[in-house]
Amino acid sequence: MKDLGQVDLHPNNFGPDFQWGVSTAAYQIEGAHDIDGKGLSIWDVFTSRRGKVKNNQHGQVACDFYNCFENDIRYVRDLNIPNFRFSVSWPRIMPTGRYPVNQPGIDYYNRVIDFCLECGIEPWLTLYHWDLPQALELKGGWTNREIIDWFSDYTELCVKSFGDRVKNWMVMNEPSVFTGAGYFLGIHAPGKTGLKNFLPAIHHVTLSTSAAGRILKNILPEAKVGTTFSCSHIEPNTSSSRDLAAAKRVDALLNRTFIEPVLGLGYPMEDLPVLRRLEKYIKAGDEALMPFDFDFIGLQNYTREIVKSSFFTPYVWASLVKAEKRNVPITEMKWEVYPPSIYHIIKKFNAYPQIRKIIITENGAAFTDELKDAEVRDIERTDYIRENLKYVLKAKDEGCKVDGYFVWTLTDNFEWAEGYHPRFGLIYVDFETQERVIKHSGLWYKSFLKQKTR
Ligand code: GAL
Repeated sequence: MKDLGQVDLHPNNFGPDFQWGVSTAAYQIEGAHDIDGKGLSIWDVFTSRRGKVKNNQHGQVACDFYNCFENDIRYVRDLNIPNFRFSVSWPRIMPTGRYPVNQPGIDYYNRVIDFCLECGIEPWLTLYHWDLPQALELKGGWTNREIIDWFSDYTELCVKSFGDRVKNWMVMNEPSVFTGAGYFLGIHAPGKTGLKNFLPAIHHVTLSTSAAGRILKNILPEAKVGTTFSCSHIEPNTSSSRDLAAAKRVDALLNRTFIEPVLGLGYPMEDLPVLRRLEKYIKAGDEALMPFDFDFIGLQNYTREIVKSSFFTPYVWASLVKAEKRNVPITEMKWEVYPPSIYHIIKKFNAYPQIRKIIITENGAAFTDELKDAEVRDIERTDYIRENLKYVLKAKDEGCKVDGYFVWTLTDNFEWAEGYHPRFGLIYVDFETQERVIKHSGLWYKSFLKQKTR
């Protein structure tokens, strides 16, 4: 095992096939919320409800990527980033979530894809990054089992429209976050709460994920098909048996509930008993439909969580010990800065023999950025990325099947319930003028990637 000091951080040391990239998501950057026939998404509706997002902000304009995409994709090229991950907004191409198709929406993504290719950048497409068509939410959204068909039709449309040029696909973005925050806690769109929404959403997302995987591979056997999961390294607060058991339940909820059924292992009901109530939604034949052999699994990691047992939190009987109370360095999101987390996560998922390949499809941090003399000296973000990369390389050096790293994110953007305040970008955005300034972290990533010679 190498100590971190012995890790030589050079892009060549990650190997010639390692995929370097940057990630984005439609609702967070595109704006143009009602342009060219786009339908409403659940985020358009959620952000219009007062008090749901900090300062009642919304993504109506965001980074205006819809109009500025050429400019922003040129930045990707100029930063020497070979892979650009973005998502398709379902209601932009299917305003009601179903047929008929909105051709201007398809044309827009064709322009984005073509421009990436013109710039020598590989487009990586995510099918679902949280902006469900509102028309489908009115029918129950992810709680309605019919969504498996709706999502399958949408997937097929994307594959048939873009599959001649897009070679890398991701089905879902972080199911535990959009179901947990959107259908259990109610703090993200569509703002639903409780187990009666959360449990069916879990099962329908699982079935939709594998259904979409099969459609992609049937139509595009050569494509690289993956799906992404949010994951955090979990540690118990003390070594008491109660905290250990609590940590195990939280680990099952945050890190295992969505991936294990896809890997053919079923839901982790043993370790998180509340999941037994999923049985109500599981129909005969579902078990065979849940697994899908993805070419890669996208892991998205930002921090670690410290867990203690709690009698006040139903179902998981556990709570997170806030980083602010632990006297540790934190980001603007109040997440602990703890780069070893990514190493532990890679090791943990590497141990599943069913996973063929791991790609870190998001990693990054929000810090208070100050624009001064046309520069943003974001030393903390640069350090964060550099340290995380060292841990990725350490895991790779130790034989883990990790084959890519995508920074979250290209430009500062709409950070969901937090609005525009936490800035995650490699590029600073003045949201009044839409001016961009490459931050020092962006310049660092650019010079780092420039060293790649093979
Ligand atoms: C992820 C999400 C992104 C981005 C990031 C930073 O959970 O996929 O959309 O917001 O977190 O919070």
